[in-house]
Amino acid sequence: MSHTLNQVECFNDDWHFIEGHYTTIPLDKLSATHQVTLPHNALDLPYNYFDETSYQRPFTYEKVITWRDAFKNKQVWLHFDGAMANAHVYLDGKLICQHKDGYTPFEINLTAFLSSEGNKLTVVVDGSENPNIPPFGGQIDYLTYAGIYRHVWLKTKDKIRLKNVRAIATNIIDDNVNEQVFVTQTASLDITTYIESVPLTEAESTHIQLSAILKNKANVIVATKTIDIQLDKGCNEINPEFSLSDLKDIELWDINNPVLYTLEVTLTSDSSEDNFIRKIGFRDATFTDHGFYLNGRRLKIRGINRHQSYPYVGYAMGDHAQRADADLIKKELKFNLVRTSHYPQASSFLDRCDEIGLLVFEEIPGWQHIGNEAWQEVTIDCVKRMIERDWNHASIILWGVRINESPDNQSFYEKTNAMAKSLDLSRQTGGVRCIPNSQLLEDVYTMNDFILNGGELALRDQQVVTGLDKKVPYMVTEFNGHMFPTKRFDSELHQVEHVTRHLRVMNAYYADDSIAGGIGWCLFDYNTHKDFGAGDRICYHGITDMFRIPKFAAYAYKSQCDPKEEIVLQPVTVWARGERPECLVLPTMILTNCDKVEFQVGDHTIKTVYPSKNRYPHLPHAPMFVDDSIISAEEFGLWGMKWSSVTMRGYLNGECVRTVHMPENPVATELTVVSDYQSLPVKQRAQTRVMVNALDQCQNLLWFIDDFITVTIEGDAKIIGPNQLILKGGAIGFWIEAGNIPGPITINVSSNRFKTVSLSISLTEE
Ligand code: GAL
Repeated sequence: MSHTLNQVECFNDDWHFIEGHYTTIPLDKLSATHQVTLPHNALDLPYNYFDETSYQRPFTYEKVITWRDAFKNKQVWLHFDGAMANAHVYLDGKLICQHKDGYTPFEINLTAFLSSEGNKLTVVVDGSENPNIPPFGGQIDYLTYAGIYRHVWLKTKDKIRLKNVRAIATNIIDDNVNEQVFVTQTASLDITTYIESVPLTEAESTHIQLSAILKNKANVIVATKTIDIQLDKGCNEINPEFSLSDLKDIELWDINNPVLYTLEVTLTSDSSEDNFIRKIGFRDATFTDHGFYLNGRRLKIRGINRHQSYPYVGYAMGDHAQRADADLIKKELKFNLVRTSHYPQASSFLDRCDEIGLLVFEEIPGWQHIGNEAWQEVTIDCVKRMIERDWNHASIILWGVRINESPDNQSFYEKTNAMAKSLDLSRQTGGVRCIPNSQLLEDVYTMNDFILNGGELALRDQQVVTGLDKKVPYMVTEFNGHMFPTKRFDSELHQVEHVTRHLRVMNAYYADDSIAGGIGWCLFDYNTHKDFGAGDRICYHGITDMFRIPKFAAYAYKSQCDPKEEIVLQPVTVWARGERPECLVLPTMILTNCDKVEFQVGDHTIKTVYPSKNRYPHLPHAPMFVDDSIISAEEFGLWGMKWSSVTMRGYLNGECVRTVHMPENPVATELTVVSDYQSLPVKQRAQTRVMVNALDQCQNLLWFIDDFITVTIEGDAKIIGPNQLILKGGAIGFWIEAGNIPGPITINVSSNRFKTVSLSISLTEE
């Protein structure tokens, strides 16, 4: 018997959108609707100083599912990757599904509801902060923008489908692991399949064949296995398990060599055919009471917390922008882990983490508040949906099963832990808290340690925090943040303190082998409620700004990388006589992974500085300091005297590898315009970030220029947000979204002070 191919169709285009709750949009309202493509943000916000209650109400999306012959004798499913929040789905006005959580996927079997005419699909989301749904019920320090902000898929399947597959790599760590090339001589892959069927009649009971094919990164088959199963009358769900064992020469997934294999599982029976394809990795990740081990080697976790928000459009950004954030974290800023504060994030973000070797601590939705029993049930369901969606990601090493920073609640957290363990015994659990002596029900004590307030103590000893009589697996999951908000355009001294605090906590977690590592708060500044932030609805807690443009503190982390990866030489100064109080620029801190830096003011004698191992003994690359012990006031010049330029030359093994020159007389010289991607696919709501930097004659940022820029675009693309922007701290960013017509686009950036700069990007059919 031949089967029509199972279809998975992107269902993002041509939705009608309107404010309000409609079970179907009345005819007289149709002219007031907008035609939109998903991912979609129900109400765009200004950059800051907005009213966050403006989106806290219902919105309706509608689209007709046109009947087609291909639906005959099939099961038709609608799959939502995420909709914020409390989605009610109607077909021809009849409620067919409600899904409360805004961060986890859900699907609906439409088969019984579809007919050869009609099929008007109406989806209502409600941006209200409904106290019955996590994270709501108390205050929260971030926004939860309304909308169908992720993809929607229409799946046409046979009667028997392969709903999910879980693949767990085992037997990896043994004496055979070859330290050099990360190849293990034996490994196994334990596969569980989740088969779902419409209840079968006696006559329909059937044999199913399940075949697994494992391919390596060169697409060469390394293992196959086929098993037969009997599906009897009435049976509608079975979970057959089997293993690919004795796998030879498997390359391990590691942060520096994130090797991915492709697993394809195919189901065939007389009446049905389905398949499931995923990238998977072979790796072992274990938190112990003496640190974290990846593939048997100790690795200090140097991580950062990420929200999933963007200026203006909130959560509704496409896959390119999601992936670019992962690249920023790993490739640009050199972190090895991201925590998905405070909810499961886009699949495309996690896929990219797998591809580039960025470890992930994945979290459930929630912030400090625990609601009633029904609310807790939603959370337990979130644990389930998160794990079932993401258990094949090699990058995920820890499941968060506690509401971020909530009080102890034994019965609730026993359930979240039990749910995680029932689905995935291969990963440990963590429960992020900020209270000491909290009950440890998880595998790892994950602690937000905000003890550093400028005083002596950077981090507490783990046993002081846990109150336990022995060490346990322990990780610091947030620090700094609200303790020292910093704008990218704050004064130099403020920035120096911001950098210092990040360095001090990092030094403290590197110092202590019983701390697996630290995860700073946070990657970028973010929009928030009036109860938080700087009064303008922004928390300036990032090591980058909302456009992901680095503050000096970003270089505290970046400079920790191996110089073979990238040479970093970043002085924490704007180099001016009078920016700091008392007209001092000393001590000048230099964030670098060079072994020494030559520092020359004007044509005075060259001074050499080295990593400050005294102050930061545990960092891989301690910062360097130029202070008045090596440069006298006379040499340097005092207030009222001539100001001079500075040259810093970074050396590695005796060779000068990087030079930074900061002129005595910076003048506005050049505007640079650079994008994350040089080409984007059309018709996918694909975006790229564009960064605009105002530079002096030596390519340094002009920190205090406040010119405005105007952006115009030729070709089928649009800017997200306003097209007139102000340079802040010498730079600004924006995102460009590709339209539907392939071809080149040109982005023109004009200003008062600089000549117009144009950047070309190509839009391609994928
Ligand atoms: C933590 C919280 C984060 C953020 C941070 C600011 O308590 O978990 O979401 O609000 O404070 O420093």
